[in-house]
Amino acid sequence: MSALFEPYTLRDVTIPNRVWMPPMCQYSAAPEGPSAGAPGDWHFAHYAARATGGTGLIVVEATAVSPEGRISPYDLGLWNDTQVEAFRRITDFLRGQGTVPAVQLAHSGRKASTDRPWKGGAPLGPEAHGWRPLAPSAVAFDEGHPVPHELTVEELQRIVGEFTDAARRALAAGFEIAELHGAHGYLIHEFLSPHSNHRTDAYGGSYENRVRFALEVVDAVRAVWPDDKPLFFRISATDWLEADGWTADETVRFAAELHAHGIDLLDVSTGGNAPAVRIPTGPGYQVPFAARVKAETPMAVAAVGLITETGQAEKIIANGEADAVLVGRELLRNPSWARHAARELDAPVHVPDQYHRSV
Ligand code: FNR
Repeated sequence: MSALFEPYTLRDVTIPNRVWMPPMCQYSAAPEGPSAGAPGDWHFAHYAARATGGTGLIVVEATAVSPEGRISPYDLGLWNDTQVEAFRRITDFLRGQGTVPAVQLAHSGRKASTDRPWKGGAPLGPEAHGWRPLAPSAVAFDEGHPVPHELTVEELQRIVGEFTDAARRALAAGFEIAELHGAHGYLIHEFLSPHSNHRTDAYGGSYENRVRFALEVVDAVRAVWPDDKPLFFRISATDWLEADGWTADETVRFAAELHAHGIDLLDVSTGGNAPAVRIPTGPGYQVPFAARVKAETPMAVAAVGLITETGQAEKIIANGEADAVLVGRELLRNPSWARHAARELDAPVHVPDQYHRSV
C-alpha cells in the first residue's frame, strides 16, 4: 500500500491523497476595472489541468484580502462579489474531479506593489498601478524598495476585518479549506519576525507581542470559518538569519499555539523576509522543519520545497515526516505528476472518464 495515496481526513473534509499543489501566484488578473483581482481563463485552465492530473488538494495562489494586500497589481483577490462568482467556476470544476479546493488568503505587507516576476519584479509607483505598501514598521524590504507606511493599531484591526471578510467570501466561492499566508516576508510574517517588526507597542518586541497580530487574524477567521472545515497556516519556519530573525524554535512553540487556536495543519516553508540570506537549497531541504513540528507538537504538517520524485514523496509520508507533500514547480512542468506517481506506486488515483484509455 502506498502511503502517498492514502486518503487523509481533517475535520469533515477527506482529501483523496497526499499529493497537493502549493499556492503559486500567476500574476494574471486584471489590475483594475470591474474584473480586477478575479480569476480568468488562464487561472481556470491552470488549476483544471492539475485537478484532472489527480492532485488531491489544490491551494489556489496567494489571494489578496484587499487591493493594497496584493504583491503585484495582477494578483487575485477576494475583496468583492465579482471575484467570488469568478472563483466558483474553478472550485466547482475541482470538486467535480475529486480535488479539494483550498485558497491562500494573503496580505503582502511591505513586499506589495511590485511588477510581475517575469518583468523583473521591481517596485511599482502610482503611474504603473502601484501604491505605498503597509507594514508593522517603516523599514523597507530591500534597497530600491519604498519605505512602507507603519500601521496604526486601528489600521491593524481593519486588516483583521479584511481577512475575515475574505474568508467569508472564500466560503461563498466554494472553497473547502482556507490557508492564511504567514510566510515569505509578507504582512503576517513581518509581524512575527524581529527582523521586520521594530514596534514598541503591544505588537512588537517580545515573542508574545510579535505573534499577537497573527493570532488575532487566526481567531477572527476561525470564528467565521465553519467548524467542519479545516484552516491551514503557511509559515516560514526560519528567516535563515544568524541574529534578529524568526527561528525554528519559535516555529515549534508557535505551532503548538496555532493548534490550540484551531489551525488544523501547518504548511512549512522558509525564508522570504530577508533578501540577502543564503538558503541551503537541495532536494527536500525544508522537510526537516516540517518533521520537527510534527514530532514535537500535535499539529499536522505539509512539507514543501524541491519535492520532485515519487520515491522521495512516498518516503516523506511513509516515514511520518509529514502528512502531505506540496509539489510546486514540478506540477508546473507536469500537471499530471500525481497520476504518474500513482502508476509508479501502483496506487489508486482519479482519472477523468474522458481519459479512461490512458489508465
Ligand atoms: C510560489 N510560491 C508561493 N508561495 C506562497 O505561499 N504563495 C504564493 O502565491 C506563491 N507563489 C509562487 C509562484 C511561483 C511561480 C512559484 C514557483 C512559487 C512558493 C511555492 O508555494 C513553493 O513553496 C515553492 O515553489 C517551493 O516548492 P517547489 O516548487 O520546490 O516544489
